[in-house]
Amino acid sequence: MSYLEHFEQIVKDQLARVERMKASSELTDYAALDKIIVGTIDGDGIGPVIMDSCRAILEKLLADEIASGKIELRRIEGLTLENRIAKMETVPADVLAAIKECHVLLKGPTTTPGKGDDLPNIESANVTLRRELDLFVNVRPVVIPEKNIDWIFYRENTEGEYALGSRGVEVGDDIAIDFKVTTTLGTTRLARAAFEYAKANGNKNVSIVTKANIMKKTDGKFLQLCYDVAKDYPEIKTDDWYVDIMAANLVNDQINSNFNVVILPNLYGDIITDEAAQIQGGVGTAGSANVGGRYAMFEAIHGSAPRMIADGIGEYANPASINRAAVMMLRHIGFVSKAAKLEAVLDAAQEALDMPGNGTGNTAADFTAFVTDKL
Ligand code: IPM
Ligand code: MG
Repeated sequence: MSYLEHFEQIVKDQLARVERMKASSELTDYAALDKIIVGTIDGDGIGPVIMDSCRAILEKLLADEIASGKIELRRIEGLTLENRIAKMETVPADVLAAIKECHVLLKGPTTTPGKGDDLPNIESANVTLRRELDLFVNVRPVVIPEKNIDWIFYRENTEGEYALGSRGVEVGDDIAIDFKVTTTLGTTRLARAAFEYAKANGNKNVSIVTKANIMKKTDGKFLQLCYDVAKDYPEIKTDDWYVDIMAANLVNDQINSNFNVVILPNLYGDIITDEAAQIQGGVGTAGSANVGGRYAMFEAIHGSAPRMIADGIGEYANPASINRAAVMMLRHIGFVSKAAKLEAVLDAAQEALDMPGNGTGNTAADFTAFVTDKL
């Protein structure tokens, strides 16, 4: 395929995606379901360690609902790097079919091969799942009460640099080109979700983050569309920042507590939320919700930590992040008081346990025992 044909195909595929977005109006009403199926996916690296913890904790917290059949925790097998490479599919078709039979998912981290890993350079399973399930918003709260910090990040989750991250072109040895995509509907539905959250929570401040001075088309459109949506919320204070100064603002104790709801394109959201989680106490401490109309997937914001496994200290992985994601999942399906109960115990665990992630201090099993004991 020539470069022009490649580009033409990309544009056609994106136009088709926009048409699918326009046509889909699915919205799951969890209250109307007799049974809510929660799929659990172990993932790679430390994934099985933290997911074992999360499952044990949910089995205790939801014992009655599981016994009555209101909730089913269903293990989804096969989303491992070995199986994905054996089948040369980022999410094997049978695994995706099993996933689509669930209503919500709790997912451990999956390893993404990169260049130089000596593995087929397949697409990230996360990116595939977010796209296949159309999980267009990535919500990541970071809360530090003693600093008066109450941030919630609304990261765009299916577009930007990620939409075509595996479909760039190499022109001989001399040039590599990637593509970034912003669509009207993709941005508008994200911005709408963020402003609705801000409104429902006492008109919190909204900040839009881009690099629209450089990425003039894609970020320029993103910024404009977010301000268009803001017009429907005149009572909400809205401002915008370039991503570089925003990275600085978050560590500036003079002003960082002024930020509340932050809207970001995909890649900036990826980077800024790791920074924010680290400010909260580490990437092991923050949960993440990938939400679409029909499906939602909850996960830790960190990766599979293959280095911890290689160093033989996988049992010291901190399950806090995936359990924070479980709190978000419980709220999402309407189990608000169960969510609050688990959250309070997780706060206590964070205080009581020492989990630096370097093979010292408490183990994941200690964490699970502490939490199940207190529930
Ligand atoms: C995240 C992760 C993923 C991402 C990786 C695992 C593909 O870093 O959820 O933030 O880049 O989005
Ligand atoms: Mg990330």
